[in-house]
Amino acid sequence: MKCKLRVTDVSTGMYVAELDRPWLESPFLFQGFTVESRRELSQLRETCQYVFVDLERSRSDLQSRIRRQAVLDRGKPSQTVQEEAPPEHRFKAIKRELARALDIREKTRQYVDVLMDDARLGKHVSVQGVKTVVTELLDTILINPSASLWLIQLREKDHHTAQHAINTAVIGMIFARHEGLDRDAIESVGMGGLLHDIGKVKVPRSVLHREGPLSEDELKLMRTHPEQGLRLLEQSGGVPEPVKRIVVQHHERLDGSGYPRSLVDRQIDSLALLVGLVDLYDAMCGDWPGNPALSPHRALAKLRREEEKGFGRERIERFIKCMGVYPIGTVVRLSNGAKGMVVSHNRTSRLKPVLMMVEDPRGTPYRKRPLVDLAGPRGSSGAEWQIESALDPAEFGEDKIRTITTTETIL
Ligand SMILES: [Fe+2]
Ligand SMILES: [Fe+2]
Repeated sequence: MKCKLRVTDVSTGMYVAELDRPWLESPFLFQGFTVESRRELSQLRETCQYVFVDLERSRSDLQSRIRRQAVLDRGKPSQTVQEEAPPEHRFKAIKRELARALDIREKTRQYVDVLMDDARLGKHVSVQGVKTVVTELLDTILINPSASLWLIQLREKDHHTAQHAINTAVIGMIFARHEGLDRDAIESVGMGGLLHDIGKVKVPRSVLHREGPLSEDELKLMRTHPEQGLRLLEQSGGVPEPVKRIVVQHHERLDGSGYPRSLVDRQIDSLALLVGLVDLYDAMCGDWPGNPALSPHRALAKLRREEEKGFGRERIERFIKCMGVYPIGTVVRLSNGAKGMVVSHNRTSRLKPVLMMVEDPRGTPYRKRPLVDLAGPRGSSGAEWQIESALDPAEFGEDKIRTITTTETIL
């Protein structure tokens, strides 16, 4: 049962099933979520006047209160919307969140590098270690999905594999939450995302880093990585079954075109399909031998065009909705020729995000990168600008993107 409550009556532990406006016009990436922090609560209060709370999915000790409040609400006029925080406060908060995300990213990357080295040397994978990292990532996601998407922006060449593992875990958990999965399933997706390609440590480096097409034998070797990964995890012991299924099935596709077993439809674990989709998306956004990186915006369009048979149209549509029209990290060209990178989605419209400006209309880089809100009030900078197009990393310059996404430029 859904109960209409004023936002001032919502508390942590309640499951918000609907807002008083479309989800895309809100800062929330998840269409339906349990309020878990004060921060989420205040975001909710800044965005809406009332929401619909799902009684059964809310904490049991809150249910009678929800019933009471919902009844009380009928007779009362709705409250006026609170004023949005002044832009300079919001921008400060965004910068703080990005800096924090960068810290976590660095720590996680170091951990994953060690994990890969250990696996390469034949040491056991510490399940507890992976779980701890995933829990920390998940906490970041729950507090601020926008900032946690910033975790995935740095694509350094030497840490390519580690970064891809982190990206798959982070985006996977965000999508899993958007799909309404419970905490256990979201954690499995995180662990599976982090470990999905661990079997590649058994594939010769000459094959992994080959530029140009692989020979038939090399391709066969490459395609052993899901089963090699499963073997590795079985030797380590204690890895939950859903995580193992994700690792061994992440290249299976609904139409049977995947590997290693050419499974079809229901034979494939739904979490493995979810991770498979996210894995492919992140691979498209990264620069791999023979495949130049696409902008997140174009990668989503390509998934929609080419991957329907592999993952199912609805799953892909839901993923696109989850990532937003211009995913965080997309470099866009504005109507006046200036360029900026999407750093935060906006509560008023996903088509008008907050940008970190990187080049002025003449192409001169900004030394201090200003933040601009395309949905800002009339007369503010950015309010008259519109996004003209999303740029692929090669079009804008991979090195320039790397410079933008380092700590120094954000602080
Ligand atoms: Fe893989
Ligand atoms: Fe992968």
